[in-house]
Amino acid sequence: MEGDADAAQNDQNAVQNLSDLQPSPSQGDQPPPPLSKNAQKKLLKQKKYEAKKAEKKALIKEQKKREAERKRKEWEEALAGVSEEERLKLIESRRELRKERMEKRSEERESKIQRLTGAKTHGQKIVIDLEFSHLMTSSEIHSLVQQIMYCYAVNGRCPSPCHLWLTGCKGEMENQLQRLPGFDKWIIEKESRSYIEALEDEKENLVYLTADAEKELDELDPQKLYIVGGLVDRNRWKGLTMKKAQEQGIQTAKLPIGTHLKMSSSQVLTVNQVIEILLKFLETKDWKASFFQVIPQRKRCETDSREDQGVDGEENEEKEEPSEKKRCTDDSSSRTNDPEAILS
Ligand SMILES: C[S@@+](CC[C@H](N)C(=O)[O-])C[C@H]1O[C@@H](n2cnc3c(N)ncnc32)[C@H](O)[C@@H]1O
Repeated sequence: MEGDADAAQNDQNAVQNLSDLQPSPSQGDQPPPPLSKNAQKKLLKQKKYEAKKAEKKALIKEQKKREAERKRKEWEEALAGVSEEERLKLIESRRELRKERMEKRSEERESKIQRLTGAKTHGQKIVIDLEFSHLMTSSEIHSLVQQIMYCYAVNGRCPSPCHLWLTGCKGEMENQLQRLPGFDKWIIEKESRSYIEALEDEKENLVYLTADAEKELDELDPQKLYIVGGLVDRNRWKGLTMKKAQEQGIQTAKLPIGTHLKMSSSQVLTVNQVIEILLKFLETKDWKASFFQVIPQRKRCETDSREDQGVDGEENEEKEEPSEKKRCTDDSSSRTNDPEAILS
């Protein structure tokens, strides 16, 4: 596995080095070293991904602009077709609506802060282990950051949120997280040390969740701290978290997926799916319902008439970033990857 790690790191370095292919004065006219086929493929994929992302962003911006323009016109037309008295009434009622909306938002924000603060003392502890950045490409780290942002947003909307820990939070991982709006104010534990150091006194209560464990989770024990591997690897690093937990002598467990449903592909889920399942289970105490609400139907074998609230971002698939679908307190189907919208 170490050999693989080196190879992946080399490819990653090669991809990163490509961005500065300009010869430095000391390099003179020397041609850059040739890239391995793997690195070329990765670079091409990354470029395509970035181009697609930029295109999508521009499209969304344009749509928003058009929608704002349409609303503005509609409003002006409404004002133009009425008497002065009606006009003043319309303006006043719009002002009132805005005020109410803002008050509601501020109440919601306040109640979210209270729930998350309460979770610090009595919420289920869930740790995201961020010690794998050296095994991920920049875009995989970006994807993980999106998943973490999504987890934080979903957790904040839950009636009984969990208390999230980010351990091993440093380097590029931390840099990318820092770029999220309001990250500094998140009500979570941010820890640059690994969980094994930071939670040394709780070692016997640490349970690493990994699809490779033998033992299935039955209940969630409030005394335990469940660790989720902060990894987006399309299962390139098979068995990695299991090996790590075994070497550290900490308990392991897998989600009881096999007991409750048949999967059409692997049982390895993304970080946000695992955390959402845990949150759903804390709310419903029903594994099956939690799996059905979080795991996308296309990943399951059975066709079931239950509401499918699957979230995008599956392991082994091309798309890792979750699209927003508010859960826990609201089932709106609005989708966005805009951090401000997800975190609001
Ligand atoms: C994308 S997976 C990473 C897979 C990685 N190859 C590994 O060795 O764990 C992200 C994390 O979600 C958790 N996870 C995913 N599927 C799981 C399952 N079926 N049961 C328990 N935990 C799971 C694990 O903590 C895992 O590290």
